[in-house]
Amino acid sequence: MVLQKVLLAASRRPGLRRVVTGNPATRRVVDRFVAGEALTDALPAVRALAADGIEVTLDHLGEDITTRAEAEHSRDAYLAALEGLAGLGLGDRAEVSVKLSAFGQALPDGHDVALELVRPVVEAATAIGTTVTLDMEDHRTIDSTLAALAELRKEHPGTGAVLQAMLFRTEDDAKALAVTGSRVRLVKGAYNEPPTVAHQKKKDVDTAYARCLEILMAGPGYPMVGSHDPAMVARAHELAAQHSRAADSWEVQMLYGIRPDEQRRLATAGTRVRAYVPYGVDWYAYFMRRLAERPANVGFFLRSLLTK
Ligand code: FDA
Repeated sequence: MVLQKVLLAASRRPGLRRVVTGNPATRRVVDRFVAGEALTDALPAVRALAADGIEVTLDHLGEDITTRAEAEHSRDAYLAALEGLAGLGLGDRAEVSVKLSAFGQALPDGHDVALELVRPVVEAATAIGTTVTLDMEDHRTIDSTLAALAELRKEHPGTGAVLQAMLFRTEDDAKALAVTGSRVRLVKGAYNEPPTVAHQKKKDVDTAYARCLEILMAGPGYPMVGSHDPAMVARAHELAAQHSRAADSWEVQMLYGIRPDEQRRLATAGTRVRAYVPYGVDWYAYFMRRLAERPANVGFFLRSLLTK
């Protein structure tokens, strides 16, 4: 847990990025989790996953931007991504995930700026028959992100959101979002949250995840089970059977490069599976969060820093 906190704190210090850039061995570790720096790298990854029966949510990396110009760049990158996805003709089997902090959420008037800039992305997704999911960032952004979700769902009801089981508030949020047409990705939570708002022990996070999963799977919405944890995926299957859910009324989501064999196995066995595929030059914070989740990856990564 201490190492995890250190890595999560480091994820918010972009200066450290220099240490891991420019070393080919380190790059190979990053490449395990990131599908490349350009859209032209990511689209072949999407196509390969689709060939294995795995659906995709594409993420243009970037977060915590500080100028409107950067926020407009995020919008443009997503519009280009949707154009690229349209060319693949996968419909809602390939959607996009966005972080509102990349659309200016932390700027003055940030809520309005983010909503203004993300709206054309949601419109472009609807136009090609697919959806957008709003990733969830640290707990200070949640009210703004859920308010943006409510606004966007008025015209684009397929817009999805993410709930983080580690937060004390999430059970109530899950109840509020367990409604018809609502797409909710349930995750454990990847941010460094204080004990005033979040469970600190893995056991407590897992128990909270299971409780929120029950709420979502019992409701009329579309649950997206965002976890690599075999216990949570098994529980989701049990709950789907218990509530007589059709196979296309929920899905499992995993991150690109994590348990890829399990992703294929589940898809072959008839579970709807979607991989979250990140690409772009701003991979540093995303990558550090993945290291924090799994100490085994840290040794692997540190060894790569010593190799050229
Ligand atoms: P847990 O961490 O308990 O891991 C269970 C098992 O999975 C491990 O034992 C290991 O086998 C494997 N595993 C997990 N992480 C690994 C890694 N990095 N490398 C290798 N193996 C690993 N968070 C957030 O705060 N906001 C968000 O919007 C999202 N979005 C999101 C989308 C999707 C599709 C997923 C799968 C996850 C997220 N997350 C997220 C991240 C999430 O909050 C959480 O940090 C990770 O999924 C790790 O938690 P698990 O549920 O996988 O279980």
